[in-house]
Amino acid sequence: MATSLPSELEQLATVLVDAKMRISDAPSLDELRVVVGQLTGKKGSLSSFKATLGKMSDIEGRKLLGQEVNKAFQVVEQASRQREDELRSLQFAEQVLSERVDVTERALSGVSASRRGRLHLVTQATERLEDVFIGLGFQIAEGPEVESDFYNFEALNMPVSHPARGMWDTLFVEADVEGSVVLRTHTSPVQIRVMQEWPPPIYAVMPGRVFRQDTPDATHMPVFHQIEGLVIDRGITFADLAGTIESFTKAFFGSEFTSRLRPSYFPFTEPSAEFDIRRPDGSWIELGGCGMVHPHVLRAGGLDPDEWSGFAFGFGIDRMAKERHGVNDLRDMYSNDVRFLDQFS
Ligand code: FA5
Repeated sequence: MATSLPSELEQLATVLVDAKMRISDAPSLDELRVVVGQLTGKKGSLSSFKATLGKMSDIEGRKLLGQEVNKAFQVVEQASRQREDELRSLQFAEQVLSERVDVTERALSGVSASRRGRLHLVTQATERLEDVFIGLGFQIAEGPEVESDFYNFEALNMPVSHPARGMWDTLFVEADVEGSVVLRTHTSPVQIRVMQEWPPPIYAVMPGRVFRQDTPDATHMPVFHQIEGLVIDRGITFADLAGTIESFTKAFFGSEFTSRLRPSYFPFTEPSAEFDIRRPDGSWIELGGCGMVHPHVLRAGGLDPDEWSGFAFGFGIDRMAKERHGVNDLRDMYSNDVRFLDQFS
């Protein structure tokens, strides 16, 4: 079959224009592959020009058409690469959009809001206790949870072998070196640390975590919280202690609650008392111990008992939270059951 160069070149130009249009219009990578195959595949419309070349007798014409066909293949390849890049970018943008997470939307949605965390009852009680005592003119102090035997016992008028140590079943940290380092059994050691560091007069409360070998039950946990109170000034009497405790009871629990002090024994206070509160239904619960700071303790804190006197108290915070919220069993507060915790805002 005779071929004429001008008409072949014209056809090639038409096929190329059409090819470029089809490539740039290809809506997806799969369709692009199909279009390119239809152009450059074995039976593709561009490839057919290669067959034409073989049949051409005009050497110069063959050479010219050959160059144009090669150029057309290059143009198609370049156009298809460009379209492929465009399609990949589009695909990525769509993926990003579909996987987008609007954190603001989640944070503000009703579902998230109902799952928002809140402070634990004991933390709430601790903060409230601090507020009440700050309102009564006290300052806040803290001490270490792992204590030396000196601060936990000895400085509190309980030398080694003192029978009163048996009142607190201790968890020893250094088991081989008996009595040297303990998980503190109460917050009273912070009294000594405060006396050693702060010049009197002192009006301080010291909240914190304490540890005992107690079996969990409705009113006991092996890890619980106390708030210690210490007042050191000139001429402090037991009446100041009783008045402070009654003011605190009304401020923390409400005016329908009252307090009483029952004679008791603590090695570090003399005289000593237990502090109970009376609920509106007439029943009583013990919340802490208190008393006038023992002269030996004042001396261990570096103070002269002839010049300074004071009172101290130690309340169980977990039991206070339990009373405030009408919880029956302390263990419920630590079981982390959200159905229980959700009841308290
Ligand atoms: C003391 O710990 C003394 N340090 C308190 C004190 C301080 C007396 C200053 C005098 C001067 P007691 O062992 O009674 O005392 O504990 C005080 C309070 O901690 C108790 O009244 C109770 O409310 C709470 N408590 C005691 N053991 C537990 C426990 N296992 N779980 C939860 N609360 C407890």
